[in-house]
Amino acid sequence: MSTDIQQAVDLLRQGELVALPTETVYGLGADAANPAAVAKIFTAKGRPADHPLIVHIPDASHLERWACDIPAEAHALAKAFWPGALTLILKRQPQVPDAVTGGQDTVGLRVPNHPVALALLRAFDGGIAAPSANRFGRISPTTAQHVRDDLGDAVSLILDGGPCQVGIESTIVDLSGKRAMLLRPGMISAIDIGKVLGRVPLSPDDPLAPPAVRASGTLEAHYAPRTPLVLMPDDSLPIALRNAIVQQERIAVLATHPAPFEMPQVIWQVAPADPSGYAHELYANLRALDALGCDRIYVQKPVGQPWQAIYDRLKRAAAGSGAFV
Ligand code: TXA
Ligand code: MG
Repeated sequence: MSTDIQQAVDLLRQGELVALPTETVYGLGADAANPAAVAKIFTAKGRPADHPLIVHIPDASHLERWACDIPAEAHALAKAFWPGALTLILKRQPQVPDAVTGGQDTVGLRVPNHPVALALLRAFDGGIAAPSANRFGRISPTTAQHVRDDLGDAVSLILDGGPCQVGIESTIVDLSGKRAMLLRPGMISAIDIGKVLGRVPLSPDDPLAPPAVRASGTLEAHYAPRTPLVLMPDDSLPIALRNAIVQQERIAVLATHPAPFEMPQVIWQVAPADPSGYAHELYANLRALDALGCDRIYVQKPVGQPWQAIYDRLKRAAAGSGAFV
């Protein structure tokens, strides 16, 4: 075992925090069976204590340690997508600390697909509770440097596993109710899930969804840059930019194509035109554009089903940034 992994295991056993790479985003990890350790996550992130955390496990054989009444659908999805960017919400075992579940009767579980995370989980041989390793409401980290920038001294050790391959958070599917429900879209799509389950999961705003779940689907101020971020249909961008230039505003743009005309006043970042490539670079792009201190960031509004998860993150970033439109 590498010395880094051994050190990380020792720290987790002592109730300390360890930041770990996953294929989605970096996580801020603690021993999920130790409520005092889990409490440190909330302090470090500045996160409200009633927000539940995802428990990362080394493989699907650990499901029964954390969940009960596990439906066949959970085993089917685990078989199809684990290790991978899918979190399952299941009825919890009674001994799962309230600090992890936010006092709910369910627990979120995931086997991440990253060699460093898997090596750590296997060596630890337990559950690691880990939200994204950013301060509450800020942009999720996809490199070790992002974690250092956000949390610095608040974490005992940062395992550096390079840039996260997927780049946005896992898909969350709730299997604790009568019908599978998509709580958070991700790069594993509702259609991918539907192919395994035989029907697509409900979305929380579906008229068939139970009312309580629908209410919790309201837009959170999340993934937020400090610069006001505005989502722009591609054909509205040129006129919006001309107006901004007339007003002498400094604008940064994130789009999947180069600028249509010469604009020295505008900082233009070209993003990959495919959803996987775009997601991989999304948070690094948002962090870099945010750091420029422009008056606004205009992001070309993505259109179509393959862009659903990216659109979800951008919508939240726009809402959280306090920009109108
Ligand atoms: O890709 C990911 O999922 C990353 C990496 C580190 O695994 N983690 C992540 O964690 O995004 P976090 O805490 O930033 O987001 C976890 C989401 C929250 O929106 C939380 O409400 C939801 O999971 N969640 C966790 N447990 C839940 C539960 N029992 N019921 C409903 N939602 C739950
Ligand atoms: Mg998060």
